Amino acid sequence: MNVHATVPPTDDPHHGETTAGRMNTVVSPHPYATMRASAAHAAPAGSVARTETLLYLDGVTKQFDGFKAINGLSIVIARGEMRAIIGPNGAGKTTMMDIITGKTKPDKGDVYFKGTVDLTQHDEADIASMGIGRKFQKPTVFESHTIEDNLRLAMAGQRSVVSALFHRDGRTEARKIEEILDTTRLWDKRAMSAADLSHGQKQWLEIGMLLAQDPELLLVDEPVAGMTDAETVETARLLKDIAKTRSVVVVEHDMHFVRELGVKVTCLHEGAVLAEGTLDAVSADPRVVEVYLGR
Ligand SMILES: Nc1ncnc2c1ncn2[C@@H]1O[C@H](COP(=O)(O)OP(=O)(O)OP(=O)(O)O)[C@@H](O)[C@H]1O
Ligand SMILES: [Mg+2]
Repeated sequence: MNVHATVPPTDDPHHGETTAGRMNTVVSPHPYATMRASAAHAAPAGSVARTETLLYLDGVTKQFDGFKAINGLSIVIARGEMRAIIGPNGAGKTTMMDIITGKTKPDKGDVYFKGTVDLTQHDEADIASMGIGRKFQKPTVFESHTIEDNLRLAMAGQRSVVSALFHRDGRTEARKIEEILDTTRLWDKRAMSAADLSHGQKQWLEIGMLLAQDPELLLVDEPVAGMTDAETVETARLLKDIAKTRSVVVVEHDMHFVRELGVKVTCLHEGAVLAEGTLDAVSADPRVVEVYLGR
């Protein structure tokens, strides 16, 4: 596939730079320029054509008071892929999610959704409505409402609370809520008040509330912190179910959980990718052992 043919003209200030993987480099009739452009496209960070990816970060940098929290981060998530992100405290995992969701603007680098949507040009609300859902660590459910009503409220989105609760479910909406109750293991508890759920179940409900928005990409930061062992195992199953129909990026320190997921792992360190591959390969990498697993 000719990637140049699929990339629209751009007003990107980086236009014409030869950063690895940047797909908007002009290929001039001059043989040297063409050679440089192909070399840029062949470089490892950009070995996947941006247009074929769901999420594409290349050369992303973010400084806080002179400290580079993210430092040349390049990461690519395919459509339908689930990826686990590991790495020591302060590696930049949450900041990476802040950048993807528009909470933090990077100083440098490319952040693209679905190949062509430049996420650095959009705010948090825009990005959420484009199909990127984010689960923060602390569950934020409506405690005094039932599980089912929480999902109904989440599905309504922009509609008012009153109309969401008293609106007679359309068949599709009802079916979707049933599906989510099933996926999140909350079917039996649907009429219970959210306040009566365990910590783990509240996390599942919040994941369900994100699913109500039907995101193409779900970002989950430390979902199993504070869960029981049984809830942790169930959360791995739940996320695997969810990943059958969308992409999921999950940050976790719990290696048993990451093993349960059984997906490709990226280890971040000092704001960049230290190692990437199967959990076995990544955890056998001496650099990963030194900065993270061996502590
Ligand atoms: N808004 C901010 N202002 C200043 N520094 C920040 C800000 N956000 C993050 N940082 C710093 O950036 C670095 C990366 O933080 P981040 O929260 O992304 O790490 P993390 O990999 O999620 O760590 P943990 O595993 O502890 O959650 C840290 O040193 C943090 O203090
Ligand atoms: Mg974090």
